[in-house]
Amino acid sequence: MDLIRRSGEILVECFATIEALLRPGVTTGELDRVVEEFIRRRGGVPAFKGYQGYPASTCTSVNEQVVHGIPGPRVLEEGDIVGIDIGVARNGYYADASRTYAIGAVSGEARRLMDVTREALDRGIDKVRVGNHLSDVSHEIQRHAEANGFSVVRTLVGHGIGREMHEDPQVPNFGLPGRGPVLVHGMVLAIEPMVNEGSCEVLTLKDKWTFVTVDGKLSAHFEDTVAVTKDGPVIMTR
Ligand code: MF3
Ligand code: CO
Repeated sequence: MDLIRRSGEILVECFATIEALLRPGVTTGELDRVVEEFIRRRGGVPAFKGYQGYPASTCTSVNEQVVHGIPGPRVLEEGDIVGIDIGVARNGYYADASRTYAIGAVSGEARRLMDVTREALDRGIDKVRVGNHLSDVSHEIQRHAEANGFSVVRTLVGHGIGREMHEDPQVPNFGLPGRGPVLVHGMVLAIEPMVNEGSCEVLTLKDKWTFVTVDGKLSAHFEDTVAVTKDGPVIMTR
């Protein structure tokens, strides 16, 4: 757990670095380069790079892009929202986190979508308690998103994490409470709600990576790596 936290600390600093650079005019590729350099300088490895052939260190998903957007020449513009997802491995232990940011002033609806998605993650994390079922986390995320008029993506899920980036169990962002594995001390989960402004349906672009909403409406994504402990949830990536 301490080792995962070390990887998480690098992620926290990555997001601070990104926040200093985010403004209209910056490209997603520039952000990716800065993050990769920073991770390596801190003795980590960008976990996404080369993963199943993925070409970059971050996923940068703009507006109707849900997750797995590939960084490149795209210029971020005032009013965009951008999800930035980063994975780090250090000494063989992984941490994974994502934040969605506003570029300049964004619409009230975009702001509300981002706020609700972050709240859904926080409320889900609050259910990360020894003796709870995994689906108590999933259910709480879905409940909060839908109570605010949004939908949760169902075809993509969170995951266990540790010595590998993706471990069992899968962590859906929807479902009935009281199902699935019982949480025990020492489990570590990457919880990552993807919340859509409109329909929950998504599809992949021709680049084989980028997921977008079918209806073209906005999507937001927040993710943290969270340990189950006797004393409650411990967030490794804040
Ligand atoms: N953060 C993503 C996840 O949790 C991983 C990105 S896919 C990659 O599953 F290929 F970019 F690594
Ligand atoms: Co993840």
